[in-house]
Amino acid sequence: MQQTNAGAAVPAHIAIILDGNGRWAKRRGLPRSFGHRQGAKAVEPVVLRCRELGVQSLTLYAFSTENWSRPASEVDEIMRLLREMLQSAERYRGQEIQLRLIGDRSALAPDLQQQIEQVERESASCTGMILNMAINYGGREELVHAARTLARQVEEGILSPEEIDEKRLASALYTAGQPELDLIIRPSGEKRLSNFLLWQCAYAEFVFMDILWPDFTPADLDAALEEYRQRDRRFGGI
Ligand code: FPP
Repeated sequence: MQQTNAGAAVPAHIAIILDGNGRWAKRRGLPRSFGHRQGAKAVEPVVLRCRELGVQSLTLYAFSTENWSRPASEVDEIMRLLREMLQSAERYRGQEIQLRLIGDRSALAPDLQQQIEQVERESASCTGMILNMAINYGGREELVHAARTLARQVEEGILSPEEIDEKRLASALYTAGQPELDLIIRPSGEKRLSNFLLWQCAYAEFVFMDILWPDFTPADLDAALEEYRQRDRRFGGI
């Protein structure tokens, strides 16, 4: 097992599903892209609040392996917003926030992959918090990717099948080396996981909120943390 954070007031690792952008726009009679743009604006204040609270890892689900089925114009808009975020990554670096992209980046445009690598490189020495942006991320894809990594090691003779345990598998995930996931927040009223962090959520607490992501503020994060603090986490014990 990775380190756990049982009983702590502040979760070591929080994940948020950025959901509800489309409905936010629809309610205002606006195109969905406006919802995504507003959703992107909601990201930074929440990231900075997590940093201020002492959260160690924050994982944001911004584009799933299934989201490619959306109209090309919508996919393009989300990729544009990702580029904008990466362009302003300096602001996060100033707060000692390390940026990482989790997911299968090989499907992204080559120049976007380069931009990601550059930002990851430049922020690699930041120790305040890790911000994982889940892009072209799928929990099942992550497990397949981990299985392939381990299978290759077995093939190369550097690992035996018997040595594959939970710790070894966790070390082949995109979140390797990061704290156990404590809390998943899903705004927008939907109550499902949508292929997010399937392995990592084993003992995570879930907080579902009725607010749409573009309206989500640091105060809503505080409310989710208050609910988290009320939970009795037993990790299978009594
Ligand atoms: C889900 O809401 C949201 C997404 C698929 C995209 C999330 C993207 C952002 C918040 C903007 C991009 C931000 C960065 C920094 C890359 P939905 O569109 O499914 O909403 P709906 O369920 O109301 O239709």
